Order: sequence, then C-alpha cells, then structure tokens
Amino acid sequence: PATREGTAITIVQREADLDILPGLKTRAWTYDGTFPGPTIVSRRGTETVVTHRNELPEPTVVHLHGGHTPAESDGYPIDLLLPANGQPGHQHHGDMMMGAVATGERAYRYPMGQRAATLWYHDHRMGATAPAVWRGLAGFHLVRDDEEDALPLPEGDHDVPLMITDRSFAEDGSFRYAADHVEGVLGDVVLVNGAPWPVLEVAPVRYRLRLLNASNARRYRLALDPQPPGGAAFTQVGSDGGLLAAPLTHDAIDAAPAERFDVVVDFARWRPGTTVRLVDRLAGLDVMRFDVTGARQADDSAVPAVLSRTLEPLGPPKRTRTFRFRQSTDGTWTINDEAYRPGHALANPRLGEVERWRFLTDFHHPVHLHLDPFQVLSRNGHDVARYDMGWKDTVDVRPAEAVEVAVRFTDHTGLFLLHCHNLEHEDMAMMADFRVE
Ligand code: C2O
Ligand code: CU
Ligand code: CU
Repeated sequence: PATREGTAITIVQREADLDILPGLKTRAWTYDGTFPGPTIVSRRGTETVVTHRNELPEPTVVHLHGGHTPAESDGYPIDLLLPANGQPGHQHHGDMMMGAVATGERAYRYPMGQRAATLWYHDHRMGATAPAVWRGLAGFHLVRDDEEDALPLPEGDHDVPLMITDRSFAEDGSFRYAADHVEGVLGDVVLVNGAPWPVLEVAPVRYRLRLLNASNARRYRLALDPQPPGGAAFTQVGSDGGLLAAPLTHDAIDAAPAERFDVVVDFARWRPGTTVRLVDRLAGLDVMRFDVTGARQADDSAVPAVLSRTLEPLGPPKRTRTFRFRQSTDGTWTINDEAYRPGHALANPRLGEVERWRFLTDFHHPVHLHLDPFQVLSRNGHDVARYDMGWKDTVDVRPAEAVEVAVRFTDHTGLFLLHCHNLEHEDMAMMADFRVE
C-alpha cells in the first residue's frame, strides 16, 4: 500500500474494482481505492487529523485500532458517517441511544501521544463491521518515535507491514461472504496486503515484518518453511502496543484476529536462491513466499538485546472485574449475559487507576480493549504464553480459559469498547461499553 505522512490526511471511502485474481475484477469497498488502504505514518507527539469522506452506499464508522484516542474520534459504533451522496441511512429509534451522526465527511483527531507501534484502522459500524471489513475497509497506521528510531532495526524497504486476511471468492471474482455466526466467516484463500500467495524478493539480510492478522475470524500459526538452520526463524521485537523490553525468538507465531507481531527475520540464514514459504500450520494454508536473491552482503541492521526501557509493570490493581464471554441460548454472543447496547456501560473504571480484568470464555474469543493497551498477567492462573508479552490490546482467550490482564485507562474519559474481535461475534453483540470517569 501507498504511504501517507503528514498531520492532515484525507481519505475517500469508495468502491473500486481490484485486480486480485488473474483475469477477474473484484469489487471492493476501499479507503482511497486500494485494499489495504493507504498506510498512514504518524510521529509520536504530533496530532494527525484524518478526514474521511464516505462515497460508499452505506454508513461507515472508522476506528483506529490500538489508538490512544479521545472518545469522539474513537469510532464509537453508532457515530455514523453517512454517505455523501446517498439517501439518509436508516436510524435506530426507540430506546436506542443516538450517536453523533455526520454526513459526507468526518475529521478523526488522533493525538498520537503514544509509543511507536503498528496500528490499523478499520470499519466499526454497529452490527455491520464484519461484512464491511471483509469488503476491504482496513489499512495500516504506523506510529514512529525517537526511542524506536535510535535502534538499529531494519528500516526503509526492509521494514514491511504485512496484512494477512482470508477471503473467499465467487466465480465472477467478487468477494463471497457466507455468514457463519458461530465460527465466524473463514475464507479459503489467504491474501497478504490484498494479494494471493505473493512473492517478495529479499536480499540475504534482516527484514522487519510487521505481521497483522486482519482476518474476520481465522487464527494462524505462522511458520517459515524451510526453517533456518537452528530454527527460531522469528525474532519478535514488538507486539500490539509497540516494542517489547527484550527480543523473543519463536519457531512459529500464533496470531488471532487483530493481533500484531513485529518480527525480524534474517534471510542470510538461508542460502541465496532459496524460496522461503510463509505458511499457516493450523489449516495448512499458503500465505506468501520470500525469494532470497543476490549475493551475501554487509548488514548494518541488528536486534539489540534491550529494545525498550519504558516498559514497567503496572503495579497492584485497585479492583478486579470479571467479564464472561459466552453464547446465550438464543445464539446471541454476550458479555456478562448482555448483548451490546450502546450507552449501557458494564464497567466504570476511573482515570489513572490500575485494574485487573478477568476474561472468561466458553469458546475461542480474541478479546480487545479500546483506549489503552494492557499487560497479560496470567492464563488459568499460570504464567503467560509466549505470545502474550509486551503491551497488548487484543488477547486470544481460548475455550474455557480465564485470562487476567492489568490495565490503566489514561487521558480520555467517556465511552469506550470492550469486545470480541471475531468480527462476526462482534456484530452478533459480543461487545460492551465501559465508561472511563
Ligand atoms: Cu479492531 Cu474495536 O476494534
Ligand atoms: Cu480497537
Ligand atoms: Cu468471539
């Protein structure tokens, strides 16, 4: 995707015919005509205003996932942006709260007072997020800062965001969305940055790969094949909320929907001429290929043993809250037995106080919090998994598991969201407000 830097960015949401499959056009909903949308790049401490213009046939809502954002710009699910040239979108009445509705254009203000991290933006309309994202409404938003710039990590062409999604296609090339509100919608083709089974030519040096699972419901176990001699192909340097304190090596990466894994791969570990496949070991899907080309060369990048000194434990929690994610007997996905109702907060955390939040599940649910990242404390009372390190905003809670996280909400009061990031579960009401006071 194209990169956009600057403090004022305009994005037009519109339909476009994309070349994804040979000889066929795929009609998509896009940010500025591409899927993924443009990669926005911000600097810590410099506000970025992104103005979206909706030229799609339906209302939209833009959420910056991982953004530390005031409530009015967070993409609350009923703060609709109605089409610029459409009939007024239908409104909910009765006991339903009304959102802040805009027509045509809306400016989302992102203060960017947060660490360098790999964020992403996507649609978040109540009850309609999953099909909108499936049609293409997703893009990267990177935050850079001085702490990260001071590190010798691979950069420039060697810093590659990879948005991994699965999709199904009809015979005419259009996206096929076959609703499944139990598992969520799974596709049979994996796209990386919107392309099936793409090839990246890489020099035999280190690359930083920012892996994002932007799929509606699919989990991946990502591995490189062949493995490099000695294994441990991935050196993880960052998570959802930016740099880890220290690098962590993995043979494979388990990525649930919305999770980000920022990894360094040293392609000098394979002989030049090798094709290294990125594969998914859960469903046996092909993801992409790296062709290692060119002669061995000097590599001035490195992964230092200390990445960040700004990661401190949050300290003892003031209170504990429990959130039970389960399917009710009528098939609705609920949190604490409630289906999502805008304006009905399930928790009222106080600004600046550390809390322990416990997530209990019946099924597999990637649990996501808006506003601030958290630190995973335990799984079923035991130590955290290797994929839980650093600042997270999404944690994969497995069937019958209890996950505890420590979180502190800062800077912004108002209504924010807690939800399952299986987008079909989210649309089927597995979402709740919390009100920061
Ligand atoms: Cu990525 Cu509330 O979502
Ligand atoms: Cu989010
Ligand atoms: Cu779920």
